[in-house]
Amino acid sequence: MAHAVSSAARLEEAVAAVRARTDACPRVALVLGSGLGSFADTLEGATRIPYEDIPGMPVSGVAGHAGRLVIGRAEGVPCVAMQGRVHLYEGHDPGDVVFGLRLMMRLGAKVLVVTNAAGGANPALEPGDLMLIEDHLNMTGRTPLLGPNDEALGPRFPDMSEAYDPGLRRLARKVAGELGIPLRGGVYAGLLGPSYETPAEIRMLQRLGADAVGMSTVLETIAARHAGARVLGISCITNKGAGLSAQLLDHAEVQEVADRVRDRFVALLRGVLAALAKE
Ligand code: HPA
Repeated sequence: MAHAVSSAARLEEAVAAVRARTDACPRVALVLGSGLGSFADTLEGATRIPYEDIPGMPVSGVAGHAGRLVIGRAEGVPCVAMQGRVHLYEGHDPGDVVFGLRLMMRLGAKVLVVTNAAGGANPALEPGDLMLIEDHLNMTGRTPLLGPNDEALGPRFPDMSEAYDPGLRRLARKVAGELGIPLRGGVYAGLLGPSYETPAEIRMLQRLGADAVGMSTVLETIAARHAGARVLGISCITNKGAGLSAQLLDHAEVQEVADRVRDRFVALLRGVLAALAKE
């Protein structure tokens, strides 16, 4: 029980640190994955808070994952963005992985837009494709909800049958169509990492129904659903899964493809936010 109490107390301290700098009440929370971090720089009227200045907020050591919370507006929508996230593979506890997410919910966000870079397990997916996450497989063996439930955060047994909100998926598809941005759809499998998968693991994941595979997002979605937020997830497919192409996998290539797709990804994100502004 001590653990649950202390994590709630930690969260309140973090909220107070943010509240000391801004009284903004964001509607939409954004978790910006590889290549998309710079979107947070474009938020208008922004308050930027380095993670180091937020008590309890874990800090990432991975290159290319800047760490700060940015609170501002995009397309007229009050937003809060995590510019950089921490991953399980860095050794963080599941509760730490979703700490920023819970903070954003506590600041008032009711919608989570979560993005990531992912490998394609479905051979039809090509590097550079954007994929709407329709559902997920949590293959990490972990959950941020382990231990005593903090009723202040959400229910003991949250429903996950519509983890990725059907209404938001329809909205994203409509926006993508209007903008002429091709948008695939599929199931995202979240693994621990940090090694990329073996070809046998990719074949296993295909049989389990995975279309894309990555090392993030599933815990954040669980925590967001626990908090009652609606979730929209979009993956940038940066590479074919191991064994599906002659090319070996490396982080630099993942980053490079994510950077190349950025403009299209940002256009889709802006379109979604503009549509949410009218909701
Ligand atoms: N596997 C897991 N995570 C990833 C991949 C991949 O192929 N590409 C980008 N993130």
